[in-house]
Order: sequence, then structure tokens, then C-alpha cells
Amino acid sequence: MTIASIMLAAGQGTRMRSALPKVLHKVLGKPMVLQALTAVEGLADIPPVIILGHAADEVRAAIEAEVKGAVQFAIQEPQLGTGHAVMCARELLEGKSEQVLITFADMPLLSKESIKSIVKLREDTQSVMTITTVMSEESRGFGRVIRGDDGSVLAIVEEADCTPEQLLVREKNTSAYCIDAAWLWKSLDQLKPSAKGEYYITDLVALAVAEGKRVSAYVLTDPTEGLGINDCVDLADTERALRMRVNREWMRKGVSFIDPFTTIVEGDVELGMDVTLYPNTILAGKTKIGSNSVIGPNTYLTDTVVGESSTIQYSVAESAQIGNHVSMGPFARLRKGAVLKDHVHIGNFGEVKDSVLGEGTKMGHFSYIGNADIGQNVNIGAGTITCNYDGKNKHHTEIGDNVFIGSDTMLVAPLKIGKNASTGAGAVVIKDVPEDTQVVGVPAKPLERKD
Ligand code: UD1
Ligand code: CA
Repeated sequence: MTIASIMLAAGQGTRMRSALPKVLHKVLGKPMVLQALTAVEGLADIPPVIILGHAADEVRAAIEAEVKGAVQFAIQEPQLGTGHAVMCARELLEGKSEQVLITFADMPLLSKESIKSIVKLREDTQSVMTITTVMSEESRGFGRVIRGDDGSVLAIVEEADCTPEQLLVREKNTSAYCIDAAWLWKSLDQLKPSAKGEYYITDLVALAVAEGKRVSAYVLTDPTEGLGINDCVDLADTERALRMRVNREWMRKGVSFIDPFTTIVEGDVELGMDVTLYPNTILAGKTKIGSNSVIGPNTYLTDTVVGESSTIQYSVAESAQIGNHVSMGPFARLRKGAVLKDHVHIGNFGEVKDSVLGEGTKMGHFSYIGNADIGQNVNIGAGTITCNYDGKNKHHTEIGDNVFIGSDTMLVAPLKIGKNASTGAGAVVIKDVPEDTQVVGVPAKPLERKD
């Protein structure tokens, strides 16, 4: 049966008490609307329709930055409730599919497997509508699912409209629906406004039952899938649940987490076998870690590739490439374009930007390397600085293989140091140094030995 899908993302999210539209608040590094979208990706026969309203331009731009062309948008203005939001997709979808899947952008933990099960249950039970529910003691402002004595679903009652008895109902509505399309488009017009003047999608249940039609309920087996975000407490609970879901998947693939509760691995990260992650490690963006590498504690890597058997402690890297058998930290920082080849060691308070450190090069303590190409087996003494910026432009430094840079050397770029050369402690090097030459002093000059 053909299927269309709608995602509701028009509400303001007043309960977040935030200037940022609710659906753009991030869960595990991704706006919740995009997180929710991944669950419906590939399920519908036509691009999903996202309902926008509050801060529509801002939300649309954030979605298009990730999934341009793969979705369509409908505008809900003003926002008169979840039923009204669905009506706004009518023009795009009526007559285009046999069934309609409806999900909410603020329920980002619902899995693709569950959504498929909802669709299947409707088919198996020949229901006009299938709803999704969770058994939970917590209220979270969720609608209560009212069943008859025979267990059949009769209605969803919003929390604000519940009798004291209905408030005690454990079964909560988690707002994922699969509905017969012809019936949906016909029935939306029959929704009556609530006391607040809103049209509730949940009222479709009682409407169907009154027509003698069957409504089935898919009960989520994993209650964390039913977490929804209305305020910042929900946001943190959802973040933790998704973090644990992702971390458990990696553990099953052979990654060791010393403390999964304090280790954050975003959704697009890739980890090799026998990687070990120490507490307070955050792996963000498109970071990749090769097998046997040990990361953390207290390390933040974003869009960074790490090879095999490397060790990174108490460090930060963004858009960097780190080879195999590298040891980094504690307290090192790699900025955009830093490349550490195999067997590099970079110790405390080293910073590298837009530079390559060749294989086996060591930079133990307190150094800044920017806009430089550094060869193999170079020793960069403590306190070395590439003076790459003259106040206007950045200049390049090139250092050949096996060079020894003495402690506290200032390398005033543009500069070339030939292979096997060396600089004395405290040298200020302003002129190129030929191969096999030692320079010392301020400004640095070749050393003349009186043997
Ligand atoms: C809704 C359900 C409730 C369910 C709960 C959690 C209704 C009436 N209530 O309540 O039964 O337990 O979700 O799943 O459906 N939105 C629009 N346009 C609007 C209003 C909302 O697009 O006019 C969007 C919001 O952006 C949000 C979603 O719909 O993504 C839910 O809105 P929200 O106000 O949070 O509904 P709840 O009160 O949580
Ligand atoms: Ca909600």
C-alpha cells in the first residue's frame, strides 16, 4: 500500500522557555527535527511533508542544510493544534497515497523499526487508524489512552481534559499514527475545536470509534522510544536515552566504554573494534576512530579522523587528521587542517593548525605550529613557535626531515629549514637555514665552532 508521511514541527514550544524554536534544540548534536526525520526516511513513497509555522524560515533553513530536496514543506499559520497542522498537508498529499503516516518532531527517539511495526499492525488488524502508546508512570503532559472493557481503544484524552480517574491511566499516547488516507482527509473536517480553540489530531480516535471503525494501538516495547520533549528536563532525559542507545550499539560492536554515562558519541561517528573510550569523552560530527585507539579521559574530537592504536588524553581536536600509533596529550589542541602522521608525539600545551607533522616527529611541550610542513623525525623543542602571522598575512614554514629545533626557538615565517639542520635554544630564526647547518642566537646565525 502506498504511504505518505507528515511530520509536525510548527509549534512554538513555549514550555522550553527558549528563543530557539523547540524543534531546533539539539539531541546528541543534531536538531531534534532532523533526528526525528531519520526514523521516517525511506518509508514513504513521496518526500515527507514537514509542517512549519513558528519561526518557519529558521527551521526550514536548518532542515534544508542537511536534507535539501528530500522533503517538502507546508506552512501552518496560525498554529491551531495538531489536527489543524495535518490539515495543512492536504493540498500536497490528498489523493497521493492510500495511507498516511504522521509523526511529531518532538518525539525524536521513535525508531524506524517501531514505525514499520505501526504500519504493519494497521494492515494486520485492518484498522482505519493505528496509534502508538507507551506504558509509563510519568505524565509528561501526554494524552491518556482510554480502552473499553474488551481492551479496544476508544479515545485519547488530553491531560488537561482528563478526569482524576483518567489521569491515573498508565498508557500514554506517543503521537505516531498510521491512518487510512481517504478516511483521514474526509474526517479532519469533522474535528471540533477544544476549549483552547485548538483542533486535536487525537480526537480522530473517538471519531473513528463512533463510526464503528477499528482503531488499534501499537505499544512500544522500549519505553525510552516514547520520550517526548516539551521542556528542558525532557530534553536532557531524551539526550541521555539516545546517548545510551548509541553507546550500547557500539559496545555490541566491540567498543569499550569505561563510563558510558559520561561518554558522548554522536550519530555520524564511526568507531573501530577494540577502541576504548574513557570518561568525559565527546566524539562529534563525522569523527572516525581506528581500532585499538584509546581516547580520553576529557577529550573532545569533532570531524576528526584518528588511525589505529593511537592514544589521546585530555585533548581537543577539530577537523584534524591523526595517524596510527600517535600519542597526543595531555592538554594538546589540534585546530582545522592539522595533520599528525604515524608515530607523532604531541605533548602538553601543544597547538597545531593547518600544518603537517611528519612521521615520528615529536613536539613534547608548549609549542605552536601554524601553516607549516614539518618532515619526519623532527624534534620540536619546548616553547618553539612558528611566528606565522605578521599582523596582516599568514606565512608558511617548512622544516626538513631530522631537524632538531632547540627549546624556545622562534621561527619567523616565511621560512625554510633544510634537513638535518638544528637551532640553538632561544634562537630567533629570520633567514632560511641550509641543510646540515646549526644556527644560534638572535637573530640566528650559523654557529662557527673554534675547535
Ligand atoms: C501531543 C498529543 C498528546 C501526546 C503528546 C506526546 C495532541 C492534541 N496531543 O501533546 O496526546 O501524548 O503529543 O506525543 O496531539 N504542532 C504543530 N502545530 C500545532 C501544534 C503543535 O505542528 O498547531 C507540533 C509541534 O511542533 C510538536 C508537536 O506538534 O512537534 C506536538 O505539539 P505539542 O504542543 O508538544 O503537543 P503535546 O502537548 O505534547
Ligand atoms: Ca509534545
